[in-house]
Amino acid sequence: MSPGRADADLPDSPALYYRWFAAKLTVQLLLHTTPTQVTLMDMLGGLSGQEFLSQYWQKTPYLVRKAFPDGLPGISGDELAGLATEPEVESRLVTANDWTLRHGPFFEDDFAQLPEKDWTLLVQAVDHWVPEIAALFDAFSFIPAWRMDDIMVSYAVPGGGVGPHFDHYDVFLIQVEGEREWRIGQSCTEADDRRDDTDLSILAHFDEQERWVLKPGDMLYVPPGIAHWGEALSKDCITYSIGFRAPSQAETLVDFAQFLANTSSDFDRYQDADLDARDDSHRITPADVDRIQSMLQRLVQDRDAMARWFGSYMTQPKYGDAPLEEPSLSKADIARQLQRQPLIRNASVRLAYQPGTLFVDGEAIETNLPADGLRWLCEQKRISASDLGSQDNAARLTILTSLVGHDAFYFDDE
Ligand code: SIN
Ligand code: CO
Repeated sequence: MSPGRADADLPDSPALYYRWFAAKLTVQLLLHTTPTQVTLMDMLGGLSGQEFLSQYWQKTPYLVRKAFPDGLPGISGDELAGLATEPEVESRLVTANDWTLRHGPFFEDDFAQLPEKDWTLLVQAVDHWVPEIAALFDAFSFIPAWRMDDIMVSYAVPGGGVGPHFDHYDVFLIQVEGEREWRIGQSCTEADDRRDDTDLSILAHFDEQERWVLKPGDMLYVPPGIAHWGEALSKDCITYSIGFRAPSQAETLVDFAQFLANTSSDFDRYQDADLDARDDSHRITPADVDRIQSMLQRLVQDRDAMARWFGSYMTQPKYGDAPLEEPSLSKADIARQLQRQPLIRNASVRLAYQPGTLFVDGEAIETNLPADGLRWLCEQKRISASDLGSQDNAARLTILTSLVGHDAFYFDDE
């Protein structure tokens, strides 16, 4: 791979960069890729989405040969290296012979000095920057969109890989270019030691169960906690990892507690109007514990608060996206501009809904748009004036205006 960078003058916000990079790459990608046209059953090796979920999801690894027989949206090693020079992009360089780990951003010289073997470059959330790669999520739309995290792209030379490890989340590993050998190992627990001579989280013991060589278009699903080890066999070995979000109990507890605390009043306190006089004043009795437990249980049992928090939590951006500070367009501006050009969906913004609420990058927007209208909004890649049906027209335009304000949709020449 020759050293490269995406461009000298990058927009400074990922959302703006996304538009810029999208426009820049579209021409190239159309030239060197075939669109991903694959039925769900073909992609899942003859299984329906439900069959895959029941038999393999979060349970056992699953290999599909030629899951994408017609090619995949591509990104070259140079383009990936270009992304890895950007401070907003999370990237890592791993050397396999001595398991060294370096974090980006990198300089062109870093790439120029690399040997011909035993290293890999990994770039997180490439879907935020390349819409054609983001479109790959659509192939997995039988899984909730808010469970998806990002598409990481790795570029490796022979011998390159991140070593034997496990992840805490599900991952679909899709071979895009070159060949990679994947080994599947044991199901890991806290008891599986990691090596202490490297910053990488590498397993001290790997108990190989299976081994496959993946060729372009092949896909391997690996559930959380299952040891796996990928090693590039060829030059220009490119693998996409579709990773999912699985927050830990600890993370959800802290975030939910903070969410509740934000709206809790100072008057909401521990109460013991039923207190009995006692002769052992230092003892905490079961009745004392019952009071605090029922106070906290009442909070956790607030189903509306839980649902609202969950939608916001699962749509929070993770990859350094700062909200755009652009002049917001009014409803009238948007209606006028829609007559001239469509709105384009910014795939780096996370959307989810519950009836009555649309979640946009962690924010909840109350709406009276019916659920099918919300679903429609979440699914659209482009919206033209003619798409705004007469029935919900006003409500759709109102929420579309909020979405444009959150940069979830944009006009191409804004
Ligand atoms: C890689 O693409 O090299 C690593 C992906 C993974 O093991 O999750
Ligand atoms: Co992994």
